[in-house]
Amino acid sequence: MSIIQFPTEMKWGVATASYQIEGAVNEDGRGLSIWDTFSHTPGKVLNGDNGDIACDSYHRYEEDIALLKDLGVDVYRFSIAWPRIYPQGTGDVNEKGLAFYHKFVDTLLENGIEPICTLYHWDLPQALQDEGGWNNRSTIDAFVEYAETMFREFKGKINYWITLNEPWCTSFLSNYLGVHAPGYNDLQLAVNVSHHLLLAHGRAVQKFRELNIEGEIGYAPNTTWIDPYSNKTEDIQACQREIGWYIEWFMDPVFKGKYPEFLVEWFKNKGVKLPINEGDLEVIKQPIDFIGINYYSGHVGRYKEGEGLFHLEMIDLGYERTDIDWPIYPDGFYHVLTHITERYGKVPIYITENGSCYNEEPVHGRVKDNNRIKYLQQHLTSLHRAIQSGVNIKGYISWSLMDNFEWAEGYSKRFGLVFINFRTLERIKKDSFYWYKKTIENKWFDL
Ligand code: BGC
Repeated sequence: MSIIQFPTEMKWGVATASYQIEGAVNEDGRGLSIWDTFSHTPGKVLNGDNGDIACDSYHRYEEDIALLKDLGVDVYRFSIAWPRIYPQGTGDVNEKGLAFYHKFVDTLLENGIEPICTLYHWDLPQALQDEGGWNNRSTIDAFVEYAETMFREFKGKINYWITLNEPWCTSFLSNYLGVHAPGYNDLQLAVNVSHHLLLAHGRAVQKFRELNIEGEIGYAPNTTWIDPYSNKTEDIQACQREIGWYIEWFMDPVFKGKYPEFLVEWFKNKGVKLPINEGDLEVIKQPIDFIGINYYSGHVGRYKEGEGLFHLEMIDLGYERTDIDWPIYPDGFYHVLTHITERYGKVPIYITENGSCYNEEPVHGRVKDNNRIKYLQQHLTSLHRAIQSGVNIKGYISWSLMDNFEWAEGYSKRFGLVFINFRTLERIKKDSFYWYKKTIENKWFDL
């Protein structure tokens, strides 16, 4: 038996996001978001699902916080629905929206749970999309206005802020691969959006410092790791391009003040123009207090002419997969973390998402999700390896507290430690909930 023991000061938590859990889309003055529009467009989300009700957490937040309390987490990562605060994206503040999050954050604090707040977890106000969305620089101004309102309103209550969740998804997945809202297939547009998102991040950080808000601020890019199939240069380079699309493209500008040359060249050869104005990169390169890392899966890949954006073919070596068909690759987690530390120094890192999709249902009231426990053990062991190798890990936040609206997959994919019956909205703690609770309590587990 091997004991995996974590540092005592490490923080433990779980995460969710507004559109995925809240429901109540027409209540208390909330405006439309691009996900309302997208999910109500036939053919965009599996089974025609949408977030109208989701987990109904807008009404059941006290019950959810009781779950968090029972789980024993130090922190809860949640996101604010921008259209609840600014129904039109900008202009008048909706006081009822603010009041909801005050009640919610107060209840977390009363229960001794530290809130970690994500400002943008994808629910862009539709009114801003109608003006071009993230392709239009005025959306950046609107974001900074919204961020400022939240900083002023919640200073002293919320001490940890995440500007953006997974800018790769909101740029490339949403505007080039067309899988997420707003659902376009345009590489130039996606590159523009990626740059404007980073600018929005940088400007929000500047605002945070200018207002002298106590606390910490960072952002949460998504990562992956692709091991080259062989040591041939072409295989290695194809993998580097794919990894770099997630990591270097979104982190070099923040930590080094420039985009990675190998990708700049690649995009230029595709006829893409970088929408960089003078001074942009200085704005993006704001010192941040931590970086949030989201990691789920990795692959093995090799060069193949014409395959995908980067001539990369994924090779199925038979790794086990979760129920969303993502290969389980815990070593990739370790590689991502050490790679980031080697490239950017010992930046404080919170794992802001890591978790697995398994669709087990309750049998006689119990959900035996042993696979999820195994996934957690494997990834926490990789995390531990990274800590032992000098990676500066401050906390681990698992995705997700509960099953929820899994974007384009609707309700068909379950990532929760708590099972949700989407008909009755009953919450049932899965076996993984109890395993995680014990691990948080002990700060170790055995293998
Ligand atoms: C997102 C979550 C999502 C999870 C699982 C991340 O891409 O931040 O909102 O539910 O991964 O797909």
